[in-house]
Amino acid sequence: ATTADTFRPALHYTARNTWLNDPNGLIFHEGVYHLYYQNNPLDNVWGNMSWGHATSPDLVTWTEHPVAISCDEEEDIFSGSIVFDRDNTSGFGTDSAPPLVAVYTSAFKPGSAHEGVQAQSLAYSRDGGYTWTKHAANPVLNRGSAEFRDPKVIKYDGGAGSYWVMVAVEATDFQVVLYKSEDLKSWELLSSFGPANATGGVWECPDLFQLPVDGDPENLQWVLTVNLNPGGPNNGSAGQYFVGDFDGTTFTSATTVTEGLQDPARLGEYQWLDWGRDYYAAVSFADAPDNRRLMIGWMNNWEYANQIPTSPWRSPMTLAREISLHTREGNLRLMQRPVGDWAALADPSKSFRLSETTIEDSTHILDGAAGTVQRIDATFTAGTADEFGLILRANGTHGTRIGIRPAQGTLHVDRRTSGHTDFHESFPSIDTAPIHPTGGAYTLTIFVDRCSLEIFAQDGQVAMTELIFPAPTSTDVAIYSLGGTAAINSLDITQFVA
Ligand code: FRU
Repeated sequence: ATTADTFRPALHYTARNTWLNDPNGLIFHEGVYHLYYQNNPLDNVWGNMSWGHATSPDLVTWTEHPVAISCDEEEDIFSGSIVFDRDNTSGFGTDSAPPLVAVYTSAFKPGSAHEGVQAQSLAYSRDGGYTWTKHAANPVLNRGSAEFRDPKVIKYDGGAGSYWVMVAVEATDFQVVLYKSEDLKSWELLSSFGPANATGGVWECPDLFQLPVDGDPENLQWVLTVNLNPGGPNNGSAGQYFVGDFDGTTFTSATTVTEGLQDPARLGEYQWLDWGRDYYAAVSFADAPDNRRLMIGWMNNWEYANQIPTSPWRSPMTLAREISLHTREGNLRLMQRPVGDWAALADPSKSFRLSETTIEDSTHILDGAAGTVQRIDATFTAGTADEFGLILRANGTHGTRIGIRPAQGTLHVDRRTSGHTDFHESFPSIDTAPIHPTGGAYTLTIFVDRCSLEIFAQDGQVAMTELIFPAPTSTDVAIYSLGGTAAINSLDITQFVA
């Protein structure tokens, strides 16, 4: 690695030397997790949109493969999904060797047959996802719209029958449109959803899936996720979700706060997949083992995505997260936890532990806790302090603050002095999420990497993901309280081999 590459994450996927954005076509197939993604094969800024490809046996280590689906003179290959067409409904494979089918958005280029249109197209793979052929009769679903994109296809198997369902967006109408198909080639409109809740930016990259409530397989509910840009709770790109019912035709939300255009004052009441600045275009894996619902997001924000100071690559993916649905004070809410077995990357000789410590209106650098790639598990109890928390990737007491303000009920990330911040005016920020203690305790699990923090509060009731660009020598971990005391019940740090 050159010095210019000091931000290359250890735990997160990045393309070797090119640009990436949205995860696409996430699928677990024949024992392998496939991660395709919006990729510029020629540069490390957005353009020449094609599907890059990486695989992993375990969601922790990734291998990059050649570009899977390439742009050409006619079209850019925008976001979409992949299904395993088990029954060969598409006819792209054979009954004994069924194909994988990618459903993607053709963003037709100036001068092409469908100039200015975004429509849905197919490609298929007969070798388990490594090489792809575009369908000769593309596009298969064209509404003549310039903003119709990001198809996510699932197999619906319910009261209304068994068929493919596509959710896609009419981005500037703040609508998710739902279609049905028997063969992935001919599509029939079912319904639309939206505008609802946050509409401060275009709607992109939807997903639709079922989850058991509180782990009860007899009580399944549907979740519709939709990303929007800008208009997130802390500026720029973010993802919201709705919980409700899908009857095979229509999605009915039980968690809509505002119908139609958003009330900006209510942003904090909507349901967010992640409250941080850098979790976008998140979608879930098809066919994950044990019916688990696993999502990956793009760890960046369109406000400054093309300017983040990394080279030769640009933009990491987030860790994979397992999503589950729980009842909280009578409401259905998602919880998330990062998934992966990082044991092989951990250095147990460097693990750090602190128990029962009172912080007295001060800041302490923790001796023996320094590192650049870490997992931190911390539990705090509020005392008389207005604010308490951690300073990470710090140089002394100068770094990124993760603070809790009990009276306000907020968790915040202050990255104004996190390292390189001047590449874009909207990057240095204080970003806030709601937090409520459980039995008096505030619990944080934080994954620290060379250019990011992923924070899971209260066992994943609240997630907050933020990029930071500290100097490689900014490795300190500090605890602090302001205006009084706070208690640390326990603090454990796993150091990863960096
Ligand atoms: C979301 C998005 C998608 C589109 C893709 C293009 O980040 O704008 O709507 O398909 O990126 O790269």
